[in-house]
Amino acid sequence: MKLLQFDGIHKRFGGVAALGGVSGTLEEGEILGLVGPNGSGKSTLINILSGFAEPNEGQITFAGVDVTDTEAHHRFEAGIARTYQIPRPFSSMTARNNVAVSLIFGKTKLHPSDATDRALQWLDFAGLAGFADQSVSELNLHQLKYLELARALASEPRVLFLDEVLAGLNPTEIEESILMIRRIHDLGISLVIVEHVLRVVNALSTRIMALNQGLVIAEGAPEDVMKDPEVVRAYLGSRWKHA
Ligand SMILES: Nc1ncnc2c1ncn2[C@@H]1O[C@H](COP(=O)(O)OP(=O)(O)OP(=O)(O)O)[C@@H](O)[C@H]1O
Ligand SMILES: [Mg+2]
Repeated sequence: MKLLQFDGIHKRFGGVAALGGVSGTLEEGEILGLVGPNGSGKSTLINILSGFAEPNEGQITFAGVDVTDTEAHHRFEAGIARTYQIPRPFSSMTARNNVAVSLIFGKTKLHPSDATDRALQWLDFAGLAGFADQSVSELNLHQLKYLELARALASEPRVLFLDEVLAGLNPTEIEESILMIRRIHDLGISLVIVEHVLRVVNALSTRIMALNQGLVIAEGAPEDVMKDPEVVRAYLGSRWKHA
């Protein structure tokens, strides 16, 4: 089943065309890898699909419903969750309460006392149970990214956008994160992942879409997209990593 469909998405920032007419789909159960050099429009596309930015043109359908004009918090309630490239926790709260907010205001609409119990389960899933009652200001970048995951998962999404959750992690942490992303997929959540580490995108994605300068330049099976001459050219001189 088509979970998400987007057609002709344009986004301009002043004179810059961040997206110049991007179309695509996400099937239920897929892990779509979204790749492209810096500034190619990946985060802008995630912002638009999750409702945090408005396209200048284009249409978005989620589970058969047109959500083009639906506000971000209503998309969140409907099952569209995302993490940020730069974590955005509620920095004066504990880790547990950050997750509880998703449970109270997201799809689950839990009572606050139930939400703080359930929050611990999601922190545990993300390996952060030991930090539940610490202020998030005490967490490092790696832990903040996992906290973002716990917050997103607590909303019981149908689709989750992961924007560079592995950036800045060491090789051991990357391996742990790959296992966690697989566990998230095993929960029945469809995923769109943005990553610069080629090995990770290849290992996880069932399909890859490559962007360059706001346009789709290749799409298909990971091994085909990675060999595509235009994709290889787009990445020369970028921070694309084969590590
Ligand atoms: N809020 C904004 N205001 C102005 N220009 C923006 C804004 N957000 C993005 N852009 C521009 O739009 C283009 C696409 O940016 P975007 O952040 O989507 O790229 P990206 O593929 O996520 O890059 P990266 O790999 O560095 O995260 C860039 O030229 C960027 O400078
Ligand atoms: Mg980005």
